[in-house]
Amino acid sequence: MALGMFQTFVSVYCWRYLVPERMIVLKTPEEVELIGRASHVVAKAQGFILKEIRPGITTKKLDDLAEECIRDHGAIPAFKGYRGYKNTLCASINEQVVHGIPSSSELKEGDIIGLDLGAIVEGFYGDGAITVSVGQVTPEVEKLLLTTQKSLECGIQKAVVGNRLSDISHAVQSYVETAGFSVVRDFVGHGIGRQLHEEPQVPNYGRPGQGPRLKSGMVLAIEPMVNMGGAAVRVLDDGWTAITCDGSLSAHFEHTISIQSNGPAKILTILDNGS
Ligand code: MF3
Ligand code: CO
Repeated sequence: MALGMFQTFVSVYCWRYLVPERMIVLKTPEEVELIGRASHVVAKAQGFILKEIRPGITTKKLDDLAEECIRDHGAIPAFKGYRGYKNTLCASINEQVVHGIPSSSELKEGDIIGLDLGAIVEGFYGDGAITVSVGQVTPEVEKLLLTTQKSLECGIQKAVVGNRLSDISHAVQSYVETAGFSVVRDFVGHGIGRQLHEEPQVPNYGRPGQGPRLKSGMVLAIEPMVNMGGAAVRVLDDGWTAITCDGSLSAHFEHTISIQSNGPAKILTILDNGS
């Protein structure tokens, strides 16, 4: 009994005061609504710059267009100023995995490019990414893009009340590895809300049935990064750009989703017409 009380004291005390950074902040329906508005702007801006993807356009131009679009919708670019990042867009070309910095280099036929954007509406964040091809690419490259996108969908399908966090991770990993590609381990998805990165971390690999139980009101950014070759990545001297160690191509898709009390998770980084 005494030990039981002590344990209760320790767990309540630690939870509330000692390790608040480990807390998963549940969102009210009103807060989910605001994250939804921010995420909607992200989807709008993705669609806007997608129309401009062609050989010859620079990633700096795409960055300018994305910022303009986000601000036109009354939102604030979320990445600009985040830990010293200077741009609105992360533009990751070919072997770049994530966090590619926009520059004056031009896209060329056969490239693939990851477009990662975040927006803030009334203090709440939305975060999403897609990877697309520039003109024609080989069937194997098409397969990389489709596999990464589908692995995200597999993860989202597991984002239901009662499952555990790593059920998402395991679903992503299984799908990717069955297709013969590898998941990046050095970067993970995350909770999202009043901050861009909140608890919990959402790895794209792992055994099922581990970690916290998923609850209604959790909002997660799930973001598989998939390499055609090995899983190893490294960060360039610019402090941001992550590339594959073996130079193989890499794709990245990300959705901000909210876990519902009933049924499947709601995808927030999407337009009403589903794109
Ligand atoms: N989707 C990316 C992430 O969650 C975007 C962050 S870029 C940064 O890590 F510049 F804001 F860091
Ligand atoms: Co993210």
